[in-house]
Amino acid sequence: MTDPRTAASWRLAPHTGAKLAILGAYLRAWFPILGRGGFPRVLYIDGFAGPGRYAGGEDGSPIVALKALGSQANLDDTAFEFHFVERKRRAVMALKANIAELRSNGGIAANAQVFVHENQTFEQAYREKIKPRLLQSLRAPAFALVDPFGWTGLPMAIMSELMSRPSTEVLVNFMFEEINRFLGHYQQGGNFDDLFATNAWRQAGSLSGVERKAYVHNLYRDQLIKAAGARYVRTFEMLNDRGASDYFLYFATKNFLGLSKMKEAMWKVDPGGGNRFSDMTNLDQFVLLQPEPDLHVLQRQLLQRFSASIVSVNEIERFVVEETAFHAGHFKKVLLNMESSGKLVVVDPVAQRRRGTFRDGAMRLRFS
Ligand SMILES: C[S@@+](CC[C@H](N)C(=O)[O-])C[C@H]1O[C@@H](n2cnc3c(N)ncnc32)[C@H](O)[C@@H]1O
Repeated sequence: MTDPRTAASWRLAPHTGAKLAILGAYLRAWFPILGRGGFPRVLYIDGFAGPGRYAGGEDGSPIVALKALGSQANLDDTAFEFHFVERKRRAVMALKANIAELRSNGGIAANAQVFVHENQTFEQAYREKIKPRLLQSLRAPAFALVDPFGWTGLPMAIMSELMSRPSTEVLVNFMFEEINRFLGHYQQGGNFDDLFATNAWRQAGSLSGVERKAYVHNLYRDQLIKAAGARYVRTFEMLNDRGASDYFLYFATKNFLGLSKMKEAMWKVDPGGGNRFSDMTNLDQFVLLQPEPDLHVLQRQLLQRFSASIVSVNEIERFVVEETAFHAGHFKKVLLNMESSGKLVVVDPVAQRRRGTFRDGAMRLRFS
């Protein structure tokens, strides 16, 4: 008999596993920050939920999210609402079976309320079911995963409504390879206008190769800022087994801590650079030879920016997270090395400090 949990599933590609690893790592950081931040309600939205399980039994995005909350302790003062939207009937049935199994194993937190918006598109469910819930809790933080198969049904107008709320962020899977292939299709103009909220995508028609890729990538990023109102956008590239760009994940937020935690999640999946994953990666070798970040680059960037000036640890962290490829965990290692080699001195406070520690954000340093 067919297993109802995988009856509508497909094989998990390595880069899909990487996407889910980023999602899980981020949510395991995000849920506790909000749960301990005094918010009575938090909403999690998965606009293209899928069946909840891949053909090989791996967790799909709804289960990854539910487990990320289920694995946390002491978040009982916050009610977490999960909204899963799935258009296809068979996938909905599988999703419900996978949620029921997780519940029967005790994997769903008692303070989680799960809604499956079935046989509806993301746009319909958003307007009719999710938006009214968001309006009931105007200050509630929200996170939306938008993970379609194509480029329709995720208009920039919805990103903009979501981003207009406080503490709301989106993670969009932008299907670059398909979008790039269909940009010139005469029947798709309206859909691309909705996706980008501008007709500037038409200019990609005169470009090719890497120029075209950069143009399309940057246009969507810039629109998340200009049209949707994000303050920060961080992208992560997924390459297929031929080394070509398959899609880009775009994380958009107005929140510095959100950006910081997402960068850490992305670096976990790409320990060498924090910005791409390739299906060509030989996973056996990868485990033996974990790539290392080149922290000399960060040291050079710090010296270029702060040479001969006095700055606080907090200012350095903001610079690193906002303006470099690195994350907050990296720069303290660099500061440690720079202090040992005499390239920086701590000017305040000097008393009662253990050399090599930079825990106090107000601590001020001078770079030589
Ligand atoms: C890429 S898959 C989602 C994978 C899932 N997020 C995961 O990572 O496990 C896209 C899913 O969206 C569903 N879908 C397609 N168009 C949709 C729409 N307009 N609204 C909601 N769901 C849709 C498809 O049936 C499919 O299950």
